[in-house]
Amino acid sequence: MESKLSFVLDGKIVEIDFNRDTHLRPTTTVLNYLRSLPDHKGTKEGCAEGDCGACTVVVAEPDENGKMKYTPIDSCLVFLPMIHGKWLITVEDLSETQCGLHPVQESMVHKFGAQCGYCTPGIIMAMFALYKNDFHPTREAIDDSLTGNLCRCTGYRPIVEATAEACVHNGLDRFTDEEGAVLEQLKKISSKSLVIQTSRQKYFRPTTLSEAMLLKVEHPKAIFITGATDIALRVTKKHELLEEIIDLSAISDLRSIIEDDEKIIIGAGVPLNRVVAKVKNIFPALHNMLSVFGSPQIRNLATFGGNLGSASPIGDTLPVLMAYNAKVILESIHGKRKVDLDVYVKGYRQTVRMPEEIITAVKIPKLKNGTIVKSYKISKRKDLDISTVSGAFRLELGANGDAKDVKLIYGGMAEKTQRAGKTEKFLTGKIWNRENAEAAMSLIDLEFRPISDARAGEEFRRVAARNLLLKFWGESHVNE
Ligand SMILES: Cc1cc2nc3c(=O)[nH]c(=O)nc-3n(C[C@H](O)[C@H](O)[C@H](O)COP(=O)(O)OP(=O)(O)OC[C@H]3O[C@@H](n4cnc5c(N)ncnc54)[C@H](O)[C@@H]3O)c2cc1C
Ligand code: FES
Ligand code: FES
Repeated sequence: MESKLSFVLDGKIVEIDFNRDTHLRPTTTVLNYLRSLPDHKGTKEGCAEGDCGACTVVVAEPDENGKMKYTPIDSCLVFLPMIHGKWLITVEDLSETQCGLHPVQESMVHKFGAQCGYCTPGIIMAMFALYKNDFHPTREAIDDSLTGNLCRCTGYRPIVEATAEACVHNGLDRFTDEEGAVLEQLKKISSKSLVIQTSRQKYFRPTTLSEAMLLKVEHPKAIFITGATDIALRVTKKHELLEEIIDLSAISDLRSIIEDDEKIIIGAGVPLNRVVAKVKNIFPALHNMLSVFGSPQIRNLATFGGNLGSASPIGDTLPVLMAYNAKVILESIHGKRKVDLDVYVKGYRQTVRMPEEIITAVKIPKLKNGTIVKSYKISKRKDLDISTVSGAFRLELGANGDAKDVKLIYGGMAEKTQRAGKTEKFLTGKIWNRENAEAAMSLIDLEFRPISDARAGEEFRRVAARNLLLKFWGESHVNE
């Protein structure tokens, strides 16, 4: 076991010992660490909650084929031990006196992509990640790569143009030349489990599931984290001292995707950005929902484990996974069980998961021919926003055009993600026509008593929920 952590920064292996470097804690974010250094203040803090992208950095590590993979993340949400064994690249690393500016920086200058410049380091890092990953990005890919970065004064057109202009060199740059040397450095860093203990905190980063399960028995109060996009806010916004953490992000068993003809089993620790790419053709409704989930920086960290672990009534994955009849797999030292997501949530952020159980995967059955699943997210803006209301619907039509199997699931309408059971009953067996869909809309009103909050009033939510059903009918009916 390792009690210190190491990563590569500025061409060197940096080692942090929390009992020596006492100004740092295991829950110090990478952003705060960088800003404590004399020469890494280019990484900015805007919101400290993943919304602005000013803190974007890139972490690089070899993928399963040994090829270096460059990933943009919000450093304000990442605890230091989460970058153990990785290459941390910041805006300062992009330009060097002898090499001049990096192509993404050159293009930003050329296209006048900055005014006050506060957002610029984060935007440069988002552009840099795209430069390394997409050699001739489409406009859609450029827009998506920038959704996690706010700019309040330049306007996005010059930034988009600069990105298109820069990303034409097949990802080649001085980082390409350095990859071999960095890979050698990364090999020198221990890949063993981390156990970090200070006088006030215990941070465990196991590398196997069995180790994690035992740790939870030994430390029943420890909090699980995977991507930490929810939990980090308890540190950055509520200034809580998290005393015991079991970080599941280094467990390779939780990061696998297994597919056969019947189903896909997605590990609870697979970053959602990998899931988006995988499910595009198999589960389009899930793909659509994940495409507007946070931003690339968030999706590179966030996981199903964390989304189902939080069980928020406005969490985006639960409704659509329920519509696909998915099951969550829970494991502890007492064994393994599969729970139908329909019965997983009991109440406001309450689930049937026992405290010692780890969410290890989500099992999604493939659709039979003819079954339709759609998902909708209503939020104040399309990208990087939390749902006001969401709906996920499933329909199997009978031979006569009747609704043989219908499932209507709503988020944001109650204290938990909830099915509209009475409306489903009303529709089952009836012809799937506009008249019946409209009659069902009024039943939705009786099923939910939504709240008014900062995002929307009760009435808005009611109307939105009703209209989503009509929208679903519009997109799923066979012409009458
Ligand atoms: C800027 C921003 C934008 C966001 N946008 C969206 C959005 O569009 N839609 C949306 O639904 N959410 C959104 N979120 C919320 C968050 O990103 C998601 O809930 C995410 O899926 C959490 O995953 P994680 O791995 O980061 O969770 P973590 O923060 O690591 O954990 C969250 C909870 O789950 C528990 N947990 C984590 N992993 C496991 C496990 N394997 N087994 C058991 N329990 C576990 C933790 O103990 C904790 O209670 C956003 C958050 C931010 C900061
Ligand atoms: S500081 Fe705003 S996303 Fe990190
Ligand atoms: S240049 Fe000022 S916020 Fe973007």
